[in-house]
Amino acid sequence: MQKRDFLRTMAGASMSLLLGERLWAQYSGLAPDALAREEPFWAAIRSKFRLKPEYINLENGFFCMMPEEVLDALVTRVREINYEASYYMRTRKDDDKLEVRKKLATIAGCAPEEIIITRNTTESLDTVIAGFDWKAGDEAVMAVQDYGAMLDMFALQAKRHGIVNRMVSLPIDPRSDEEVVSLYERALTPRTRLLMVSHMVNITGQILPVRRIVEMAHARGVQVMVDGAHSFAHLDFRIPDLACDYFGASLHKWLGTPLGAGLLYVRSDRIAGLWPIYGDMGVADTDIRKLNHTGTHPVHTDLAIQNAIAFHEGIGIPRKEARLRYLQNYWTGKVRGTPNIVLNTPTDPRRSCAIANVGVATMKPADLSKTLLEKYKVWTVAIDGAEVHGARITPHLYTSTAELDTFVRALKELARA
Ligand SMILES: Cc1ncc(COP(=O)(O)O)c(C=O)c1O
Repeated sequence: MQKRDFLRTMAGASMSLLLGERLWAQYSGLAPDALAREEPFWAAIRSKFRLKPEYINLENGFFCMMPEEVLDALVTRVREINYEASYYMRTRKDDDKLEVRKKLATIAGCAPEEIIITRNTTESLDTVIAGFDWKAGDEAVMAVQDYGAMLDMFALQAKRHGIVNRMVSLPIDPRSDEEVVSLYERALTPRTRLLMVSHMVNITGQILPVRRIVEMAHARGVQVMVDGAHSFAHLDFRIPDLACDYFGASLHKWLGTPLGAGLLYVRSDRIAGLWPIYGDMGVADTDIRKLNHTGTHPVHTDLAIQNAIAFHEGIGIPRKEARLRYLQNYWTGKVRGTPNIVLNTPTDPRRSCAIANVGVATMKPADLSKTLLEKYKVWTVAIDGAEVHGARITPHLYTSTAELDTFVRALKELARA
């Protein structure tokens, strides 16, 4: 059997396990973009989650809740590890964690030797930023719209080592990839050593042309670290496609793992150059595990990553991305161009996926989010900084178009008031 046919058969097999053969038989012939519009299919996926009836949750960018079967697997693991206690930790923990690392490496498209399980993106990216061998006067480049914790970590290196941080500000509707690439390029100087770029900007949902930014930076001798907090298990790509040096993500966002799971990828030839935060003299300088000595930790969380991977693979990343983009376009398409409604997300559908940001010209973002919750029972988060003012709207796989219709009605009513 051809590899592609084999993979298709496997995807079909896991989907029928997830939903039952009869239901899957109805939909299995559809391409991801067509399936994205099939509400009965997604209602079956929705039934895998336990949802609070009191509000419509459009704030899944913080973390995406686990489906019930992943939660049940986690609870079982908590019980079993507690039961066996140190016996488990001394006899099986390392082998079991290695299996999870291998599975994660498979969906990330890299070697297991280039990836470690961390607690979150903050730990992953801060490990790189703090691990760099900075000298006074070295420069780093990043964007005002990058995540605050990483910007703070660079600010800390400036305070401690005297590095210089140069900031760009991203246009929401770039005319072309070149416009974004040259924005970063203009910030580079002969002293630049590291460029940080968000794959998907968390406050606007903007997807950046990372591969092209990496190629430009590498041609200038600059290493690139990608903040993939929102892109991993949301967009259909493999980490090596980006050609970056470092990549960090939070698995509790789009992979749907328990809270407190992340990954750090370091390209094999970059491992030796990083200083670990926590010492471990038993691990070679070229071994990525030197960056992972965080002591005794909740290993059941790490092990449940494989249950989340099984659910994620059951749907398949092309279908997941297509549905998430469909949901965002569904509601933004109904409000774009409406007087008083300001969309802070690119118009070009290739430049965004699930996440978008919307403002009402007459309302402060905090008031907009508060009113959405109190009057319309729609849960969102207000963003009011980094040149972005609005509510961030993040649907998830369980979001229905009926819920989005409620949200659109609320938004139009507020814009008219
Ligand atoms: C772009 C981006 N980077 C990093 C983070 C930090 O993620 P965590 O708190 O899981 O470390 C977030 C969290 O929302 C984010 O949106």
